Amino acid sequence: MSAHRVAMLTLALVITAATGLLAEVRAASGAASGAEPEARAGEGRELFVARCSSCHSLDYMEMHARFGTRALWEAEVTKMRNAYKAPLNDEEAKAIVEYLARTYGPTSPAASVSR
Ligand code: HEC
Repeated sequence: MSAHRVAMLTLALVITAATGLLAEVRAASGAASGAEPEARAGEGRELFVARCSSCHSLDYMEMHARFGTRALWEAEVTKMRNAYKAPLNDEEAKAIVEYLARTYGPTSPAASVSR
């Protein structure tokens, strides 16, 4: 095998590997902005509706959306658990906080309808 041929072969291999890597990167970023987070959002929402509407209306969230930083929602969920004994384990509380921070944050559509 000539040195030239070895060089060409190496080049071809590098290109093949790089193309494969690119496809992998694309697939990974596609998954990150695609189906998976939506599934997680659904999970948080179901929990939220199931656990947070037994004592009061879910409208309470809209009233707070304008101030709805992650810290506020964490404090609210903790208060619901401690003061009013909302039945949630740590994992469920975390999922609901994630959902609330995303859905009822200061820049959410819900914030613009709250007074
Ligand atoms: C066991 C009953 C109960 C459950 C379950 C419950 N809450 Fe509450 N929540 C209350 C009570 C009582 C108040 C005070 C009502 C009032 O002052 O009118 C309240 C008030 C609120 C308020 C208004 C702000 C405040 O602090 O008073 C928010 C926001 C809120 N709840 C969010 C939630 C969220 C989110 C969940 C689910 C994680 C939840 N609640 C589950 C009983 C509950």
